[in-house]
Amino acid sequence: MTKYYFIKTYGCQMNVHESEKLAGMLESLGYAEANEMEKADVIVFNTCSIRDGCEQKVFGNVGSLKHLKKSKPNLVIAMCGCLTQIKGRPEMITKKFPYVNIIFGTHNLHEFKHYLETFERTHKNIVDVWDKEGEICEDTEITRTSGYNAWVNINFGCNNFCTYCIVPYVRGRERSREMKDIVKEVECLVKQGYKTITLLGQNVNSYGNDVDNPNVTFANLLKEICKLDGDFKIKFMTSHPKDLSSEVIDTIANEPKLAKVIHLPVQSGNNKILKKMNRNYTREHYLDLIHEIRSKIPNAILSTDIIVGFPSETEEEFMDTYTLMQEVRYDGVFAFMFSPRTGTPAERMENQIDSKVKNERVNRLLKLTKQITKEKTKEMLNNVYEIILTAKCDGGYTAETLSGKNVVIHTDKEYPLLSFHNAKIINVNTKVLEAQII
Ligand code: SAH
Ligand code: SF4
Ligand code: F3S
Repeated sequence: MTKYYFIKTYGCQMNVHESEKLAGMLESLGYAEANEMEKADVIVFNTCSIRDGCEQKVFGNVGSLKHLKKSKPNLVIAMCGCLTQIKGRPEMITKKFPYVNIIFGTHNLHEFKHYLETFERTHKNIVDVWDKEGEICEDTEITRTSGYNAWVNINFGCNNFCTYCIVPYVRGRERSREMKDIVKEVECLVKQGYKTITLLGQNVNSYGNDVDNPNVTFANLLKEICKLDGDFKIKFMTSHPKDLSSEVIDTIANEPKLAKVIHLPVQSGNNKILKKMNRNYTREHYLDLIHEIRSKIPNAILSTDIIVGFPSETEEEFMDTYTLMQEVRYDGVFAFMFSPRTGTPAERMENQIDSKVKNERVNRLLKLTKQITKEKTKEMLNNVYEIILTAKCDGGYTAETLSGKNVVIHTDKEYPLLSFHNAKIINVNTKVLEAQII
C-alpha cells in the first residue's frame, strides 16, 4: 500500500527549495505526495524563525496536530528548518509537543532519509540538530514543485550579521558551491525544459568570497551560465547592496538570458539606523546603485525589503525610509515590523519601539506602496516587457512577465507554450494586464 507525505513549508525560497529536497528523499523511499495533511503518513514542518510571528504560526499548526496523531498513532511528525536550529527550541518542542517524532536542523537536512528509516524501525523519537555546517552535499534527490521555474542554490549561510537577523545563527557561515556543479545543474535543468532558473543565496553577490580562486565571483558565475545553450532566463535572490558590483549590473544589462528583475533590500533609508543594523552602506550609496541600475537597465523591475520600528527609530528617521520609497518608486515592497530575535544584538538594544507605533508606520508604508504600484501599473502602458506564455485561453494565451505579473494576450496566432516573447502592454485598465506580442 502506498504511503503518503505532506510537507508544510514556512519562510523564504531557500526553505521552499529545501522542501523539494525533503520531497525528493521521501519519494526515493516510495512515498507519494498527499494533497491534504489528514491523508499523510509522514508530515514534515520545514520551519522559519525570521520573525516571532513566523515561529508562533508554526507552533500553532504543530499544536493543532495533537488530535490527528491521537486518531492515527502511526503518523510520523518531523520538524526541521531555521526554528529547530535555535538553541533551546528542540527541548521546548519535545516538552510541549511530545508527539513530534523527528527533530533535525538546517545543517543535517540530507540526513532526513536516514532518520525516517531509523524511526520506522525503532519507533524511538529522534532529536539531532548539528551546531556546525558540514560539507555541501551534492548528490541530493530533488522533487521540483515550482512549475517552469527551478531553484538552484549557489551559496549557503551568511556572514553579514545584520544586528536584527537570526539567519547567520541558524544557517551558519557562507559556503559557496563549486561553479562547475552549479553550471552542470543549470545545464541539466534547461535540458529538462525549465524556463527560469532562480539562483539562491542569502547574499548571492558574495558568491565565491569564501574560495581562494579570484575567478570564482558572482559576475563570472552569471557569465558562465549565460554561455549555456537554450531558451531560458536567469533570476537570483537576494542581493546585498554593499556587495552588488558594477560588473554584475553590467552583466544583467548586457546578457539577454538575465531577467531584468532585481530584489535589493534596503531595510531603512536612514544612515544612523543602517549603521545600527550593521548594513555597511549608506542611503547615498544605495541611491547611487539604483541610479546606476536605472541608467544601464531602463526597464528594470526593482523590489525591496524594509524593516520599520528598529530600536530607537524616530519619526524623522522613519520618514527617511518613506521618502526613499517615494524616490525609488519600487515595483514591489515587503515591509516588516521589527521583531526582536533571540541572541541577536538588536534584541538587547535600548529604546525598543512600541508595537502600536510599528504598526502605524508599516501601515503608512503599505498605503504608499499601494499608491505607487497603482501608478506604476498605469505607466506600463505602451512599454515592452519580456513575457512567457503559460497557458492557452479563450481567444489567446495567458502569460507572465518575468517579475510575475499576469498578462493576457489576445491572438489567433499559434505559439509554443512556455516560449518567451517581447510584448507591448496595450491595456492597463482591466483586472489582468493586456499585451500584444511584437
Ligand atoms: N538574506 C536576505 C533575506 C533575509 S530575510 C537579505 O539579506 O536580504 C528577509 C527579510 O526579512 C529581510 O530582508 C528583512 O527585511 C526581514 N527581517 C529579517 N530579520 C527581521 C527581524 N528581526 N524583524 C523584522 N524583519 C526582519
Ligand atoms: Fe540576515 Fe543580513 Fe544575512 Fe540577509 S544579509 S540573511 S538580513 S544577516
Ligand atoms: Fe526564514 Fe530561515 Fe529563510 S529564518 S526567511 S526560512 S533562511
